[in-house]
Amino acid sequence: MENRFNTIAGWVLFSGIVALGLSILSGKFFHADKHERPETLGYVIEGAESEGGASSGPDLATLLAAGDVAAGEKLYAKCMACHTVAQGGANGIGPNLFGVLGQPIGSHVAGFAYSGALSGHGGDWSYENMDEWLKSPRGFANGTKMSFAGLSKAEDRANLMLYLRENGGGPALPTPAAPAEEAATDEAAAVEGEAPAAEEAAAADEAA
Ligand code: HEC
Repeated sequence: MENRFNTIAGWVLFSGIVALGLSILSGKFFHADKHERPETLGYVIEGAESEGGASSGPDLATLLAAGDVAAGEKLYAKCMACHTVAQGGANGIGPNLFGVLGQPIGSHVAGFAYSGALSGHGGDWSYENMDEWLKSPRGFANGTKMSFAGLSKAEDRANLMLYLRENGGGPALPTPAAPAEEAATDEAAAVEGEAPAAEEAAAADEAA
C-alpha cells in the first residue's frame, strides 16, 4: 500500500514538474508574460516594401504623375507643428521647407541646427530620398531630431511631395514609362487571342 502511494505521489510530482516546464517554455515562445502590444503587429519584413517596388503597387513616378496636390496640402497638417513652408517662413522645431526638394540633404536652411545624422547624410532631396525620409525619418537618417513616425502610405508620401513642390519647386517629375508598354503587349495578346473566336462566330453565322 505504502509502495503504491509513493508511486502515485511520484507521478503527481513528476507531472507537476513537466507542466511547470511546459508553461515556462510556452511563455518563452509566445511571450505570454509580456502584456504590452508590439509596436508593429505581424511579421515585419525589412525592406520588402521598397524592394517590391513595381509589383507591390504603382511605382513612385506613377504615384507622382497621378498625385493630388490638395490631398498633399491636407497631409501637410501633420507637419505644421514643426515646420513652415511659405517662402521666408520662420524655422520652428524643424527648418522652413520652402523649396527643399532638390536641395542638399540637411543644409537647406542656413543657420538651422541640423542633427549630424541629417547634415552628414549626403545626397540631395530627390523624390526617392524624400520618399524614404517621409516613410521613416529614423530609417533614413538614424539619429535625426525629427520625431515623426512617418507616413506608411506611398500615395500619401507622393501627394505630400507634390505639395512641397508647389511651394518652391523641385526637380522635374520622373516620367512613368514601363507600365504603359506592358499594357500595350497585353492588349496585342488579347487581340490575337480574340481573332480565332471571331472567325468561328462568323463561320457559325454562315452555317445558320
Ligand atoms: C515633431 C516635429 C516635426 C514634425 C511633426 C515634422 N518634422 Fe520635419 N523636421 C523636424 C526636425 C527637428 C528636422 C531637422 C532634423 C534633423 O536635423 O535631424 C526636420 C527636418 C525635415 C526635413 C529636412 C529639411 C532639410 O533642410 O534637409 C524635411 C524635408 C522635413 N522635415 C519634412 C517634414 C514633413 C513633410 C513633415 C510632415 C509629414 C514633417 N517634416 C514633420 C521636425 C518635425
